[in-house]
Amino acid sequence: MQIRVVVGQPWEAGADVLTIPVIGDPAFDGPLGELDRRSGGELSGLVAFGELPTRRYYRVVAASGELPFTRLVVVSGGKADEFDLETARRLGATAIRRLVNRNAHTMAVWLDPVAEGLGHTTGDGDAMATAADLITRGIVEGGFEPKAIYREDTDAAPPALDELILVASAGDPAAIERAAERGRTMGEGANIARGLANRSANDVSPQVLADEAASLASTYGLDIDVIDERRAAEMGMNLFLAVGRGSANPPRMIVLRSGGPGEHDALDRHLALVGKGVCFDSGGISIKPAARMEEMKMDKTGACTVIAAITTLSRLAPGTPLLAVAPAVENMPSGSATRPGDIVKALNGKWVDILNTDAEGRLILADAMTYAEQLGATHLVDVATLTGAVGRAMGHLVTGAFATPNTWWDQVAAAGERAGERYWRIPLVEDYRRNLRSWYGDLANIGSTEGGLVQSALFLEEFRTVPWAHLDIAGTAYFRETTQYAPRGATGAAHATLVELALAGAAAR
Ligand code: BES
Ligand code: MN
Ligand code: ZN
Repeated sequence: MQIRVVVGQPWEAGADVLTIPVIGDPAFDGPLGELDRRSGGELSGLVAFGELPTRRYYRVVAASGELPFTRLVVVSGGKADEFDLETARRLGATAIRRLVNRNAHTMAVWLDPVAEGLGHTTGDGDAMATAADLITRGIVEGGFEPKAIYREDTDAAPPALDELILVASAGDPAAIERAAERGRTMGEGANIARGLANRSANDVSPQVLADEAASLASTYGLDIDVIDERRAAEMGMNLFLAVGRGSANPPRMIVLRSGGPGEHDALDRHLALVGKGVCFDSGGISIKPAARMEEMKMDKTGACTVIAAITTLSRLAPGTPLLAVAPAVENMPSGSATRPGDIVKALNGKWVDILNTDAEGRLILADAMTYAEQLGATHLVDVATLTGAVGRAMGHLVTGAFATPNTWWDQVAAAGERAGERYWRIPLVEDYRRNLRSWYGDLANIGSTEGGLVQSALFLEEFRTVPWAHLDIAGTAYFRETTQYAPRGATGAAHATLVELALAGAAAR
């Protein structure tokens, strides 16, 4: 896809499709009035007919009259004072997804309404570049179609554009184009994570995930170390091994690095991203009910996300110090599987009473976090499909987060803000830690049902000594149903946040 910036008015461009974002109730004066006139009153006619309500992601294909486009796609961004970065990004995705199976090879997008909307709600002084970044990213993310992973005959895919034309009435075209390229790279990174996460467990074993990571590492110049079960045993990663023991597919600890070993970034951090990579979570001996168990092929999404994030970082700011640690396992019941009541020594020396083999994510993350610290990590963020509870509490649009100390949370939250992703922080209620007490060990891997979500984070907290944030993406990692802006399946949630967080430490260029 070629990206071209046109500084001018939308009717001065030409393409198969023009996307017209409408933020708030449309007023047909200025350029929107001119577009309406040139379309032969099509736009105001749609509004009069009730076809264009001010509702987020409502979209309609319209006739173009004498405008130099085959069709117009009008997309609502909802109410003006509720407009935000996430909505801007999803506008782009909505536009391209409206064109599934349509004959469109080139698309122009009018950026001005998006920039105005963002300037109005965020006070962004460089809103045209931000709009170009988010719209392009949205178009790339919206172009992802999981039906095409295994099948070639699918008719579900949005058109692959030859050219994207960004139309802005003002601004430096080179800066707008740079921003759009950044958005493209960010969107491609999310799609790498989604492509891996959506693949089935008979396809992506821990070894295959490691192979995929290795191929990305060689493409983008990252250092990689894949620790097999023998080395992991020598090192003492027994929690990690305990989860993988039941499967015929052995576990792999995948470690990717950008920059030198232990090297600090411009913010004096050696940041490590840790992603849960359970290629299939049957629950193990504490086996899950059959209903929706097939979704547990997605339990590796955290790992896919950190692998993609370090890839994206290396494209946007090569050489920036960053570590990605992805413990990959399959959680299966068998004669060699870990049993409830097994007591296992973690890499950090703590004895863990595995009361429930379905609370496996926290076990593999614990050893991975310890290992990241052994490699010199000064700041940790883990991302994991950790609990069903977070999905019940927040749904599929808000990621639940835990962090300590507050100053580290502020940094992570700011990165999430820049990324156009939603988080809500849940407190690490110290008083609940007693629920994790174990008779035989230092702690148990489950506590009480009440407050179980908080306890999942308190468990992880036992395995860090440096600033740490935990992003529970169990609700946001994948959609069960198609929306206007995304197909069913992996969403790429948290990828952009992690990249933004790492980019904050990139050397000024
Ligand atoms: N992978 C699951 C969490 C999950 C559930 C992710 C639904 C996505 C959708 C995790 O390993 C798990 O089984 N969690 C248990 C923990 C419990 C045993 C303490 C849960 O949430 O029920
Ligand atoms: Mn589980
Ligand atoms: Zn799991």
